[in-house]
Amino acid sequence: MAIQSTITLNNGTVIPQVGLGVFQTPDGDTTVNAVQTALENGYRHIDTAMIYRNEASVGEGIRRAGLPRGDFFVTTKLWNDDIRVHRGKDAFQESLDRLGLDYVDLYLIHWPADGWQQAWDDLQEIYASGRAKAIGVSNFQKHHIDELLANSDVLPAVNQIESSPQFTNHELIGQLRSKGIVAEAWSPLGGTGGNLLGSPVLAEIGAKYGKSAAQVVIRWHIQRGVVVLPKSTHAERIKQNFDVFDFNLTSEDMTAITALNTGKRNGADPDNFDF
Ligand code: A2P
Repeated sequence: MAIQSTITLNNGTVIPQVGLGVFQTPDGDTTVNAVQTALENGYRHIDTAMIYRNEASVGEGIRRAGLPRGDFFVTTKLWNDDIRVHRGKDAFQESLDRLGLDYVDLYLIHWPADGWQQAWDDLQEIYASGRAKAIGVSNFQKHHIDELLANSDVLPAVNQIESSPQFTNHELIGQLRSKGIVAEAWSPLGGTGGNLLGSPVLAEIGAKYGKSAAQVVIRWHIQRGVVVLPKSTHAERIKQNFDVFDFNLTSEDMTAITALNTGKRNGADPDNFDF
């Protein structure tokens, strides 16, 4: 296996710090090939969700890569519609069936939709059954985490949130860290159609190390202690995005990248979403 970094979650589960994201990666060959390419080039972590509608293709890509089950980490997520009608356990089993797996490494509540409190109870049962090795949340703000912790003895292992140099989400990440919850970054490269990767600051830093803007941003996430989930449908970029373990950003580089923060989200606001 290629050299890479891992983080130990608060229940002892080890998570590879760079994972392939597959949001908006079309079901079928595109997802199968992306997952297979990633696993054949060192990735050991794939992040999907029921609502990405590509779990079956993720499973197929995994099978084609042919790795032993214990060697890779898979996350999927409970969608809002299922949260609202309290279908947590059934929806989880359907995800497992589509993936063709008998367990996932991490199962997340995708958004704090109405009914998430009961969904958290469902996730705890799923965790106790051994069919999810860790459980957590996504798109939770500090007040959601506070409410969850006031009503549950089980800490979420992670909170997957929007974070990139343009929207660092620094304060929330610090609050999570103080509670022992690992932050995972979605849209880590600024999202599809974003202009972050064209930043001259990133180009200048990358030139020092012979790395692209995307590689610099992924390295910045790694050195912040965040799990980073870049997505690409292109094999060369998938490979490039994992070639990030042979250089170190200086603290000046880190500060310059963090200064790109605009405080403006690229995606939906967890306190005001309509899906
Ligand atoms: P593509 O799939 O065409 O490669 P994020 O992960 O922040 O959501 O956004 C990733 C976006 O950036 C995707 O649209 C992806 O497009 C693009 N991307 C991913 N990796 C790279 C890379 N190494 N260089 C340039 N663009 C990239």
